[in-house]
Amino acid sequence: QVKQTGLLSPDRILNVGHRGASGHAPEHTIPSYELAQKMKADYIELDLQMTKDGHLICMHDETLDRTTNGTGYVKDHTLSEIKQLDAGSWFNEAYPQYAKPEYKGLKVPTLEEVLDHFGHSANYYIETKSPETYPGMEEKLLEALNRHHLIGPNAKPGQVIIQSFSPESLKLNPSIPLVQLLWHEQPARITDQELNHIHTYAIGVGPNFDKIDRAYIQKVRQHGLLIHPYTVNEQTDMNRLIDWGVTGMFTNFPDRLHEVLKDR
Ligand code: G3P
Ligand code: CA
Repeated sequence: QVKQTGLLSPDRILNVGHRGASGHAPEHTIPSYELAQKMKADYIELDLQMTKDGHLICMHDETLDRTTNGTGYVKDHTLSEIKQLDAGSWFNEAYPQYAKPEYKGLKVPTLEEVLDHFGHSANYYIETKSPETYPGMEEKLLEALNRHHLIGPNAKPGQVIIQSFSPESLKLNPSIPLVQLLWHEQPARITDQELNHIHTYAIGVGPNFDKIDRAYIQKVRQHGLLIHPYTVNEQTDMNRLIDWGVTGMFTNFPDRLHEVLKDR
């Protein structure tokens, strides 16, 4: 039986809805996040990009091409231009087995809209994407979280986690629980020195799941860090990673992870 303790407890196995429930619905849309909640994800994962006029929006890519009917870089478009775009039809075409008429015409959400919509009813696992391209994004993120009272002494511990591949970006928000994302080529190795350093600013690491093994996971845990691998979509992989000691994982299918956790 999985223990139900605080979100940041090392005894907890967190279900992080990657870009929402993006296996089932168009990533980074309100319906995708809603579905993740319905499927019992503990967190909705948000990737942030910034528009030409300085608005934080929820989108994975630096360009509009893959997940909308627009083209070009986010940084070269204003929010009002991006709001004209259809962020759902691509999904219906790419995944006909999951297609729904209501996905057509979905809008790209701003961070502000997502925080307004879900408020305190969701936990947010937020990635600062391409921070070198978007100076000031960390400060804007902090302001938005403060405005919505999602951080600070009165907020639930762990209601917001910030993640990034960039340690410099993470360190700009030292008051929030931070997770250092990592990318490993096979075989994944990490030194005591690296882990000791990460532990000085972060509560955990997020490596790609497919190159890590039990020894890697145990080493991370022994350094007092949480470990949330990405992006785990098959139940055999979920079970193996849990057996090896992970404290959560990112998945496009929170329903599958919920089922795994329920049965253990
Ligand atoms: O944030 C965890 C994982 O999402 C990192 O990879 O490219 O899917 O953002 P990516
Ligand atoms: Ca991400």
